[in-house]
Amino acid sequence: MERTFLMVKPDGVQRGLIGRIISRLEDKGFKMVAGKFLLISEDQAKRHYAEHEGKDFFDNLVSFITSGPVFAMVWEGDEIIELSRIVIGKTNVKEAQPGTIRGDFALHTPRNLIHGSDSPNSAEREIHNFFEQHELVSYEKTISLWN
Ligand code: PPS
Repeated sequence: MERTFLMVKPDGVQRGLIGRIISRLEDKGFKMVAGKFLLISEDQAKRHYAEHEGKDFFDNLVSFITSGPVFAMVWEGDEIIELSRIVIGKTNVKEAQPGTIRGDFALHTPRNLIHGSDSPNSAEREIHNFFEQHELVSYEKTISLWN
């Protein structure tokens, strides 16, 4: 079972899309194992986006992600890193297909609502930039007990 770091960015929070974004991920069958609402510090943002340091949009990226509260999450599922990025849709909103989160809700590329880890190494690093080990909740889904 794989884990990934997903984060509703400040534009998603401002537009009141946290619930609908979580629903898309739940509908797919993924399992949330941690979640918190927070303001990111500049240092945390720079660590989060370290792989983009030096790119011309790096300063924009850091100032945008620190501009307001985010909802940071860890989700679990088979091949979730690749599959969650399909549910999220392409980074460039002009390429994001209808039916994906970005395809349905995002209008501008940097304001693309949600971040998702792009590899197991990034997921590991990003999860530990935002969560302590004890905040990750291990549990089984026991749907048959409730239906
Ligand atoms: S790259 O260079 O291909 O690796 O970059 P990409 O994967 O397309 O984007 C990485 C993250 O940077 C955001 N982005 C931008 N932010 C601000 N301004 C501009 N111009 C810009 N272009 C890309 C993009 O939304 C990605 O954010 P995350 O949070 O990782 O989805």
